[in-house]
Amino acid sequence: MNRHFHDADNQMRKLEETKRLKSSEDKQVSSEVFDDRTLKVLYKLAKQGYINTLNGVISTGKEANVFYGYDDDELPVAVKIYRVMTLDFKKIKKYIAGDPRFKTHGNKTRQIINTWTQKEFKNLGRLYNLGLKVPQPYTSNENVLIMQYLDYSDDDHTAAPPLNKIKLENPSVVFDEIIDFIDVCYNEADLVHGDLSRYNILYSHNHPYIIDLSQATLTSNPSSRMLLERDVKNICYDASRYKIKLDFDEIMNRILKR
Ligand SMILES: Nc1ncnc2c1ncn2[C@@H]1O[C@H](COP(=O)(O)OP(=O)(O)O)[C@@H](O)[C@H]1O
Ligand SMILES: [Mg+2]
Repeated sequence: MNRHFHDADNQMRKLEETKRLKSSEDKQVSSEVFDDRTLKVLYKLAKQGYINTLNGVISTGKEANVFYGYDDDELPVAVKIYRVMTLDFKKIKKYIAGDPRFKTHGNKTRQIINTWTQKEFKNLGRLYNLGLKVPQPYTSNENVLIMQYLDYSDDDHTAAPPLNKIKLENPSVVFDEIIDFIDVCYNEADLVHGDLSRYNILYSHNHPYIIDLSQATLTSNPSSRMLLERDVKNICYDASRYKIKLDFDEIMNRILKR
Protein backbone atom coordinates (compact mmCIF):
# COMPACT_ATOMS: atom_id res chain seq x y z
CA MET A 1 0.00 0.00 0.00
CA ASN A 2 1.25 3.47 -0.84
CA ARG A 3 1.99 5.22 2.43
CA HIS A 4 1.67 8.63 0.92
CA PHE A 5 -1.64 8.31 -0.86
CA HIS A 6 -4.73 9.47 0.95
CA ASP A 7 -7.97 10.83 -0.34
CA ALA A 8 -9.58 13.77 1.36
CA ASP A 9 -12.17 11.66 3.16
CA ASN A 10 -9.51 9.52 4.64
CA GLN A 11 -7.64 12.53 5.91
CA MET A 12 -10.74 13.95 7.50
CA ARG A 13 -11.50 10.66 9.18
CA LYS A 14 -8.03 10.57 10.65
CA LEU A 15 -8.24 14.06 11.95
CA GLU A 16 -11.62 13.21 13.46
CA GLU A 17 -10.07 10.20 15.15
CA THR A 18 -7.31 12.32 16.54
CA LYS A 19 -9.90 14.76 17.79
CA ARG A 20 -11.98 11.98 19.24
CA LEU A 21 -8.94 10.80 21.13
CA LYS A 22 -8.53 14.32 22.38
CA SER A 23 -12.05 14.52 23.69
CA SER A 24 -12.15 11.02 25.12
CA GLU A 25 -9.04 11.44 27.21
CA ASP A 26 -8.86 12.92 30.62
CA LYS A 27 -9.22 16.65 30.01
CA GLN A 28 -6.05 17.68 31.76
CA VAL A 29 -3.89 15.16 29.93
CA SER A 30 -5.38 15.99 26.56
CA SER A 31 -4.95 19.72 26.83
CA GLU A 32 -1.34 19.22 27.86
CA VAL A 33 -0.56 16.75 25.11
CA PHE A 34 -2.63 17.94 22.24
CA ASP A 35 -2.02 21.63 22.03
CA ASP A 36 -2.82 22.95 18.56
CA ARG A 37 0.71 22.61 17.32
CA THR A 38 0.99 19.00 18.43
CA LEU A 39 -2.35 18.23 16.77
CA LYS A 40 -0.98 19.65 13.53
CA VAL A 41 2.09 17.46 13.81
CA LEU A 42 -0.10 14.40 14.42
CA TYR A 43 -2.20 15.33 11.42
CA LYS A 44 0.90 15.63 9.28
CA LEU A 45 2.14 12.23 10.45
CA ALA A 46 -1.28 10.75 9.71
CA LYS A 47 -1.12 12.20 6.20
CA GLN A 48 2.29 10.63 5.71
CA GLY A 49 0.94 7.24 6.76
CA TYR A 50 2.88 6.91 10.01
CA ILE A 51 -0.29 7.00 12.12
CA ASN A 52 -3.62 5.69 10.94
CA THR A 53 -5.36 5.37 14.29
CA LEU A 54 -4.48 6.23 17.83
CA ASN A 55 -6.15 3.73 20.14
CA GLY A 56 -5.25 4.68 23.66
CA VAL A 57 -2.73 5.56 26.31
CA ILE A 58 0.07 3.25 27.42
CA SER A 59 1.65 5.65 29.85
CA THR A 60 1.37 9.20 31.09
CA GLY A 61 4.79 10.14 32.38
CA LYS A 62 6.33 13.27 33.79
CA GLU A 63 7.70 14.52 30.50
CA ALA A 64 5.93 12.51 27.86
CA ASN A 65 2.82 10.49 27.17
CA VAL A 66 2.97 7.28 25.19
CA PHE A 67 0.06 6.10 23.05
CA TYR A 68 -0.44 3.03 20.92
CA GLY A 69 -1.98 2.89 17.52
CA TYR A 70 -1.55 1.61 14.00
CA ASP A 71 0.10 2.95 10.89
CA ASP A 72 -1.26 2.69 7.34
CA ASP A 73 0.20 -0.78 6.92
CA GLU A 74 -1.65 -1.87 10.07
CA LEU A 75 1.61 -2.19 11.89
CA PRO A 76 1.25 -1.39 15.60
CA VAL A 77 3.15 1.73 16.64
CA ALA A 78 4.02 3.47 19.88
CA VAL A 79 3.65 7.24 19.74
CA LYS A 80 5.62 9.17 22.33
CA ILE A 81 4.53 12.76 22.68
CA TYR A 82 6.69 15.06 24.73
CA ARG A 83 4.68 17.50 26.71
CA VAL A 84 5.42 21.04 25.85
CA MET A 85 4.33 22.51 29.16
CA THR A 86 5.94 20.45 31.86
CA LEU A 87 9.42 19.52 30.80
CA ASP A 88 12.25 19.92 33.26
CA PHE A 89 14.38 22.29 31.22
CA LYS A 90 17.30 22.63 33.55
CA LYS A 91 17.91 18.93 33.32
CA ILE A 92 17.55 18.94 29.55
CA LYS A 93 19.89 21.85 28.96
CA LYS A 94 22.55 20.10 31.00
CA TYR A 95 22.33 17.00 28.82
CA ILE A 96 22.21 18.80 25.50
CA ALA A 97 25.01 21.22 26.38
CA GLY A 98 27.76 18.57 26.25
CA ASP A 99 26.65 17.00 22.98
CA PRO A 100 28.15 18.57 19.86
CA ARG A 101 25.55 16.89 17.64
CA PHE A 102 22.84 19.16 18.96
CA LYS A 103 23.06 22.90 18.81
CA THR A 104 19.98 24.66 20.03
CA HIS A 105 19.31 27.93 18.36
CA GLY A 106 18.09 30.33 20.93
CA ASN A 107 16.22 29.24 23.96
CA LYS A 108 12.72 28.73 22.79
CA THR A 109 11.03 26.01 24.76
CA ARG A 110 9.61 24.25 21.76
CA GLN A 111 12.93 24.09 20.02
CA ILE A 112 14.51 22.53 23.05
CA ILE A 113 11.77 19.91 23.26
CA ASN A 114 12.01 19.21 19.53
CA THR A 115 15.75 18.74 19.89
CA TRP A 116 15.16 16.42 22.83
CA THR A 117 12.74 14.34 20.74
CA GLN A 118 15.12 14.27 17.79
CA LYS A 119 17.88 13.18 20.13
CA GLU A 120 15.87 10.20 21.34
CA PHE A 121 15.07 9.29 17.72
CA LYS A 122 18.74 9.40 16.74
CA ASN A 123 19.91 7.49 19.79
CA LEU A 124 17.35 4.75 19.15
CA GLY A 125 18.46 4.49 15.52
CA ARG A 126 22.09 4.26 16.46
CA LEU A 127 21.40 1.39 18.85
CA TYR A 128 18.86 -0.34 16.62
CA ASN A 129 21.33 -0.35 13.73
CA LEU A 130 23.84 -2.16 15.93
CA GLY A 131 21.28 -4.90 16.51
CA LEU A 132 20.60 -3.92 20.10
CA LYS A 133 17.18 -4.56 21.60
CA VAL A 134 15.45 -1.20 21.48
CA PRO A 135 12.17 -0.32 19.76
CA GLN A 136 12.81 0.42 16.07
CA PRO A 137 12.38 4.16 15.57
CA TYR A 138 10.13 5.00 12.60
CA THR A 139 10.10 8.79 12.50
CA SER A 140 10.14 11.88 14.64
CA ASN A 141 8.57 15.24 14.00
CA GLU A 142 8.78 18.15 16.44
CA ASN A 143 7.73 16.73 19.84
CA VAL A 144 6.34 13.44 18.50
CA LEU A 145 8.33 10.21 18.16
CA ILE A 146 6.90 7.14 16.44
CA MET A 147 8.48 3.76 17.08
CA GLN A 148 7.88 0.06 17.10
CA TYR A 149 5.24 -1.02 19.59
CA LEU A 150 6.69 -3.61 21.94
CA ASP A 151 4.16 -6.21 23.01
CA TYR A 152 4.51 -8.84 25.68
CA SER A 153 4.55 -12.02 23.59
CA ASP A 154 3.22 -13.77 20.49
CA ASP A 155 -0.04 -14.59 22.27
CA ASP A 156 -0.34 -11.49 24.40
CA HIS A 157 -0.26 -8.23 22.50
CA THR A 158 -0.65 -5.98 25.51
CA ALA A 159 2.20 -3.53 25.98
CA ALA A 160 5.45 -5.03 27.22
CA PRO A 161 5.69 -4.33 30.97
CA PRO A 162 8.63 -2.52 32.57
CA LEU A 163 10.78 -4.78 34.78
CA ASN A 164 9.52 -3.06 37.92
CA LYS A 165 6.02 -4.37 37.20
CA ILE A 166 6.81 -8.06 36.81
CA LYS A 167 8.60 -10.95 38.46
CA LEU A 168 11.14 -12.48 36.12
CA GLU A 169 11.39 -16.25 35.85
CA ASN A 170 14.86 -16.13 34.29
CA PRO A 171 16.43 -13.11 36.04
CA SER A 172 20.11 -14.05 35.67
CA VAL A 173 19.81 -14.44 31.89
CA VAL A 174 17.97 -11.13 31.68
CA PHE A 175 20.52 -9.24 33.76
CA ASP A 176 23.37 -10.72 31.70
CA GLU A 177 21.66 -9.38 28.60
CA ILE A 178 21.27 -5.97 30.20
CA ILE A 179 24.98 -5.82 31.10
CA ASP A 180 25.84 -6.84 27.52
CA PHE A 181 23.61 -4.03 26.31
CA ILE A 182 25.44 -1.46 28.45
CA ASP A 183 28.77 -2.80 27.19
CA VAL A 184 27.91 -2.69 23.47
CA CYS A 185 26.15 0.64 23.90
CA TYR A 186 29.28 2.14 25.47
CA ASN A 187 31.92 0.51 23.31
CA GLU A 188 30.24 0.32 19.93
CA ALA A 189 27.62 3.05 19.93
CA ASP A 190 29.66 5.41 22.14
CA LEU A 191 26.55 6.08 24.19
CA VAL A 192 25.63 5.95 27.85
CA HIS A 193 21.93 5.58 28.63
CA GLY A 194 22.06 7.79 31.71
CA ASP A 195 18.69 6.82 33.18
CA LEU A 196 18.90 3.06 33.11
CA SER A 197 16.98 1.03 35.66
CA ARG A 198 14.10 -1.45 35.82
CA TYR A 199 11.71 1.40 34.98
CA ASN A 200 13.19 1.92 31.50
CA ILE A 201 13.55 -1.71 30.53
CA LEU A 202 10.58 -3.49 28.97
CA TYR A 203 10.18 -7.25 28.97
CA SER A 204 9.13 -8.28 25.48
CA HIS A 205 9.23 -11.76 23.94
CA ASN A 206 11.40 -13.02 26.82
CA HIS A 207 14.08 -10.36 26.38
CA PRO A 208 14.85 -7.01 27.97
CA TYR A 209 14.35 -4.01 25.67
CA ILE A 210 15.87 -0.69 26.62
CA ILE A 211 13.73 2.41 26.16
CA ASP A 212 13.64 6.12 27.04
CA LEU A 213 16.82 7.29 25.33
CA SER A 214 16.36 11.03 25.10
CA GLN A 215 18.92 11.74 27.80
CA ALA A 216 21.51 9.25 26.52
CA THR A 217 24.86 10.96 26.05
CA LEU A 218 27.95 10.39 23.98
CA THR A 219 30.89 8.86 25.80
CA SER A 220 32.80 12.04 24.95
CA ASN A 221 30.50 13.95 27.31
CA PRO A 222 32.40 14.78 30.53
CA SER A 223 29.51 13.34 32.61
CA SER A 224 29.42 10.05 30.74
CA ARG A 225 31.68 8.14 33.16
CA MET A 226 29.57 9.19 36.13
CA LEU A 227 26.37 8.33 34.26
CA LEU A 228 27.76 4.92 33.27
CA GLU A 229 28.60 4.17 36.91
CA ARG A 230 25.13 5.20 37.97
CA ASP A 231 23.50 3.00 35.31
CA VAL A 232 25.59 -0.01 36.34
CA LYS A 233 24.84 0.62 40.02
CA ASN A 234 21.11 0.75 39.32
CA ILE A 235 21.26 -2.55 37.46
CA CYS A 236 23.29 -4.18 40.26
CA TYR A 237 20.60 -2.99 42.66
CA ASP A 238 17.77 -4.29 40.46
CA ALA A 239 19.54 -7.67 40.24
CA SER A 240 20.01 -7.74 44.01
CA ARG A 241 16.22 -7.72 44.36
CA TYR A 242 16.38 -11.22 42.84
CA LYS A 243 19.22 -12.14 45.20
CA ILE A 244 21.61 -12.01 42.25
CA LYS A 245 24.99 -10.55 43.16
CA LEU A 246 26.48 -8.59 40.29
CA ASP A 247 30.00 -7.31 40.91
CA PHE A 248 30.01 -3.58 40.16
CA ASP A 249 33.83 -3.29 39.84
CA GLU A 250 34.08 -6.33 37.62
CA ILE A 251 31.40 -5.00 35.29
CA MET A 252 32.98 -1.54 35.13
CA ASN A 253 36.40 -3.09 34.35
CA ARG A 254 34.95 -5.25 31.65
CA ILE A 255 33.25 -2.29 29.99
CA LEU A 256 36.11 0.17 30.30
CA LYS A 257 38.98 -2.10 29.28
CA ARG A 258 37.51 -2.98 25.88
N1 LIG B 1 7.92 1.24 22.15
C1 LIG B 1 7.11 1.02 23.18
N2 LIG B 1 6.27 -0.05 23.18
C2 LIG B 1 5.45 -0.29 24.23
N3 LIG B 1 5.38 0.49 25.33
C3 LIG B 1 6.19 1.57 25.40
C4 LIG B 1 7.09 1.89 24.34
N4 LIG B 1 7.77 3.02 24.67
C5 LIG B 1 7.31 3.38 25.88
N5 LIG B 1 6.37 2.52 26.33
C6 LIG B 1 5.62 2.62 27.61
O1 LIG B 1 5.57 3.97 28.00
C7 LIG B 1 6.24 4.15 29.25
C8 LIG B 1 6.98 5.48 29.25
O2 LIG B 1 7.93 5.51 28.22
P1 LIG B 1 9.34 6.23 28.41
O3 LIG B 1 10.00 6.27 27.08
O4 LIG B 1 10.07 5.59 29.53
O5 LIG B 1 8.91 7.72 28.77
P2 LIG B 1 9.02 8.59 30.12
O6 LIG B 1 9.91 9.71 29.75
O7 LIG B 1 7.63 8.98 30.39
O8 LIG B 1 9.61 7.72 31.21
C9 LIG B 1 7.12 2.94 29.39
O9 LIG B 1 7.36 2.60 30.74
C10 LIG B 1 6.31 1.85 28.72
O10 LIG B 1 5.33 1.35 29.61
MG1 LIG C 1 10.89 6.21 31.31
